[in-house]
Amino acid sequence: MTDGPALVFDDTMKLGVVTSVDTSRVLIAVENSELLPRAAVGSLIAIQGATTQEFLIGTSERVTRQLREQAAQPDPLDPTTLASEIVPDDALRVVLVGTYRTVDGSSRNQFKRGADSFPQIDRPCFLIEGANLQRFMGLLGKDLGDDERLELGNFVIDQTATAIASGDKFFQRHASILGSTGSGKSWCVSLILERASARKHANVIVLDMHGEYASLASPAAPDLESKAIQIASRFKIAGPGDLDSPPLNAIFLPYWLLNREEMLAMILDRSDQNAPNQASRFTQHVKDLKEATLIGASKSDVQATFTVDSPIPYSLEDLVKRLHDDDTERLEPPQVQRARNGEWHGKLTRFISRLKSKSEDRRYGFLFKPPTDSNNYDWLGSQLSRLLASPDDSPGIKIIDFSEVPFDVLPVVTGVFARLLYDIQFWMEPKKRTPFVFVCDEAHLYLPVREDADSVAKQALYSFERIAKEGRKYGVSLLVVSQRPSDVSRTILSQCNNFLVLRLTNDQDQNVVRRLMPDSLAGVLDGLPLLDTGEAILVGDAILLPARIKLNRPRIEPLSQTREFWTEWGEKAPDANAVIEAVETLRRQSRPKTE
Ligand SMILES: Nc1ncnc2c1ncn2[C@@H]1O[C@H](COP(=O)(O)OP(=O)(O)O)[C@@H](O)[C@H]1O
Ligand SMILES: [Mg+2]
Repeated sequence: MTDGPALVFDDTMKLGVVTSVDTSRVLIAVENSELLPRAAVGSLIAIQGATTQEFLIGTSERVTRQLREQAAQPDPLDPTTLASEIVPDDALRVVLVGTYRTVDGSSRNQFKRGADSFPQIDRPCFLIEGANLQRFMGLLGKDLGDDERLELGNFVIDQTATAIASGDKFFQRHASILGSTGSGKSWCVSLILERASARKHANVIVLDMHGEYASLASPAAPDLESKAIQIASRFKIAGPGDLDSPPLNAIFLPYWLLNREEMLAMILDRSDQNAPNQASRFTQHVKDLKEATLIGASKSDVQATFTVDSPIPYSLEDLVKRLHDDDTERLEPPQVQRARNGEWHGKLTRFISRLKSKSEDRRYGFLFKPPTDSNNYDWLGSQLSRLLASPDDSPGIKIIDFSEVPFDVLPVVTGVFARLLYDIQFWMEPKKRTPFVFVCDEAHLYLPVREDADSVAKQALYSFERIAKEGRKYGVSLLVVSQRPSDVSRTILSQCNNFLVLRLTNDQDQNVVRRLMPDSLAGVLDGLPLLDTGEAILVGDAILLPARIKLNRPRIEPLSQTREFWTEWGEKAPDANAVIEAVETLRRQSRPKTE
């Protein structure tokens, strides 16, 4: 870029003058009516600042023309007749967004967020368009080093300018992608993953609810010329069909990983009058069993400080046996004077039967039927290093397929999974940590608003809320993706610092988004229902100017194709055999293996 000033105006470009100012908004009386039609909502306006080198920059939020009647110039031929004429009163309301200086100390062409001073009445204002606009948009990403640039698309107000965000800032303090279904969220996620994959050691964990991102891991190269691209590795939470001979990429979360609260939230019926007894016996036995494992593995250092929540393997059978012993205990003489029932006799029956029925349910197999080697003391470390450290140069982007996890247990699985990885990062030596991001696809399914959460979902929510509040310090960040922002935990959304908001049609959802954003953006957000597919408003500290962006297309599309109902009805007959096969799949609760 040349060193000349980015914004150059002459008198013919003067739009008008400032007539009214409050804390963030400015009213401009338009004098050059010919320029008004070129100003739209969202246009950039420059207001002359305190010196000639400074302009305050704003975006127009309302453009109005009012007609007014006024006395016309007397007709020289007939000066006695009083004539009136209709004249326009043109005005523009502008929200201040930043300050631009042609020279700032030793640097030239600096744009910064926020208005440094209040504009003064009668200051001239200009529309930023044409060459000025091009040069100005070029400034927005210019201070970002090559290592920090996250290229997302093009600005809608100037298609020639590339929209570049700061990759560091985008992930540092959580981000969110919100938009109605079909607005382009999944494509946007693919794009961001693709950009991240260009970093040598990207570390991203994608919670993929519909198996949409499988295409990023298995290169479907329809055109043989194109080199197969694989930017991610794929794992799946073990489904009912994976229990007997688990594939290598199956993930199990054995019950012993669950902390006391998570396990009890799932098994304990709080309304049972024996619930306190059940919880206390459970806790005692689990602690003892974990201790026995530590003794067996000669881990005396761990034994000295472990707690009931420490992830240490124990046998579920042993636990059930101990609970059962309590539940049926009889004390006989000479141990006691008269034969009587033990202290817990009959009090644990229902707890045991709940535990058993959960553990026999194959849908919960990933929890209760882990492979036998998972009972080895070292199993956990090797599993987690696959996820957090990408050994053997495997891609740092890890797609975790949750598509076979039943809806009602989704919160437990996502919650335990996230907590575990977060805890590992928490306890890792700070210098050795590599920051990582959780991409939470379809977040409304497992990060609900607190009032809507049952006790199990609350546990999951707690894990994610903790990451939202404290993750930054340990290098763990969230990218929350949802079509229903009004159903997503406010605690989590309000911790996000960057938002990519795509088309959003529902009123309730728009209101939630509005409340998350500064008031000055109200005008920009009014346009949310009108955004085109793949268009987003990017707001946050990753970009200097809240801007409307046309997102780039990802090279690898997610498997989220919008179906062509009308066309397909003209082409393809429904397949009766496929229906019959699907019935079997439903019964098996497991898809036939295709790979
Ligand atoms: N950036 C984009 N450019 C062009 N078309 C897009 C873009 N993003 C999405 N689309 C189109 O919109 C469709 C739906 O996008 P998708 O990401 O699946 O939406 P969502 O996840 O929000 O439901 C895609 O199949 C694609 O045809
Ligand atoms: Mg989607």
